[in-house]
Amino acid sequence: MENFNYYTPTKVVFGKNTQALVGQLVKEQNCKKVLVHYGSGSVKKSGLLDAIYQSLDEAGIAYVSLGGVVPNPRLSLVYEGIELCKKENVDFILAVGGGSVIDSGKAIGYGVVNEGDVWDFYEGKRTATACLPIGTVLTIAAAGSEMSDSSVITNEKGWLKRGYSSEYSRPKFAIMNPELTMTLPQYQTASGCVDIMMHTMERYFNQCDNMELTDGISEHLLRTVMKNAKILMEDPNNYEARAEIMWAGSLAHNGLTGCGTDGGDWSSHQLEHELGGMFDVAHGAGLAAVWGSWARYVMDARPERFAQFAVKVMEVQPTEDVSETALKGIVEMEEFYHAIHMPTSIHEMGIEITEEQIEELAEKCSNFSKRTIGCVKALNKEDMYQIYKNAK
Ligand code: NZQ
Ligand code: ZN
Repeated sequence: MENFNYYTPTKVVFGKNTQALVGQLVKEQNCKKVLVHYGSGSVKKSGLLDAIYQSLDEAGIAYVSLGGVVPNPRLSLVYEGIELCKKENVDFILAVGGGSVIDSGKAIGYGVVNEGDVWDFYEGKRTATACLPIGTVLTIAAAGSEMSDSSVITNEKGWLKRGYSSEYSRPKFAIMNPELTMTLPQYQTASGCVDIMMHTMERYFNQCDNMELTDGISEHLLRTVMKNAKILMEDPNNYEARAEIMWAGSLAHNGLTGCGTDGGDWSSHQLEHELGGMFDVAHGAGLAAVWGSWARYVMDARPERFAQFAVKVMEVQPTEDVSETALKGIVEMEEFYHAIHMPTSIHEMGIEITEEQIEELAEKCSNFSKRTIGCVKALNKEDMYQIYKNAK
């Protein structure tokens, strides 16, 4: 087992009606003024935003609001939020929504308390020294940003989607009421399930061996999400299934499933980020579209690991041929994606990608040939090109 730090400072308040506690939780943070940050309308439609305002009013909390975050959240709104927070002396950010809203809030939080252009952090030019404290009311189980140290922002200039991670941005609290996710369109529910699984799988596919407990947690988490995702396709208001998936979403990305590993591969995420930047696809759907192509491309570098995944997660009957078992696991996973109406190719996302676009994706993903990605097998620009091409 590798050495590791496990740091999860987020207070989780989980269950029915927990959004009513938001005023109290914000009050505990001893802040003077809050930015209520939200998305493109779902929280207004559902009445959640009014409930949040009511709870803040009752707790005597002053606030300003900024809505309009879109999936693959934009840098321009982040700049707007930074200006607003500075003008209004905001000292706490309350993100009400999904990963996009939380990530936008984290970026604003960096921008308010650090000098210079916040995009520098996402470009890897500088590191942040602080972030405004953040609280979240989660409305979709997916990105895991409610407990993670990451945020992912899209810069409209060049449509570059880039992530930045630092411990400063781990939220102070996360309110998670599974009922709030019942208004999600089926596609978003399914896309979220893929993302949750991929956060576990990115860590699971690594170059380590001796992680019995972490492997067990990951394998069970994956089976739990698959089982409950299928339930939700038939019965979207099933509270227990919503709850299992919501909790899995946080545990998949708060570091738990990476304890004792080398950190994992993360290629599929890097490959997807470029698809998100170029085509604005739902993150989980984009992951499902490239994962099979990635897995087939790198499988031979660690066939035993892929075979373990096949047997323990996809419940494949092993044969003597490790590669055959490994491949069956990949095929089974793709069948699961189809069972929850997720794509297993770029074409299945409704995109007929051109040769030039594939080249551009590989250019951007390799940071213009300046980096490789992945640890199962280090991938250069040519490898990325081939994986996108095979995922066509
Ligand atoms: O904007 P609204 O109107 O709220 O609509 C959203 C959005 O259209 C809708 N939605 C959310 N909750 C809803 C709802 N609709 C009805 N009822 C509800 N209860 O769902 C759509 C997707 O929302 P979004 O926040 O984009 O989803 P998700 O949580 O999947 O976040 C995706 C973003 O997170 C990034 C992704 O790259 C992507 O940009 N990621 C962030 C990570 C992190 N910070 O740790 C890690 C991930 O790997 C991921 O990269
Ligand atoms: Zn993800």
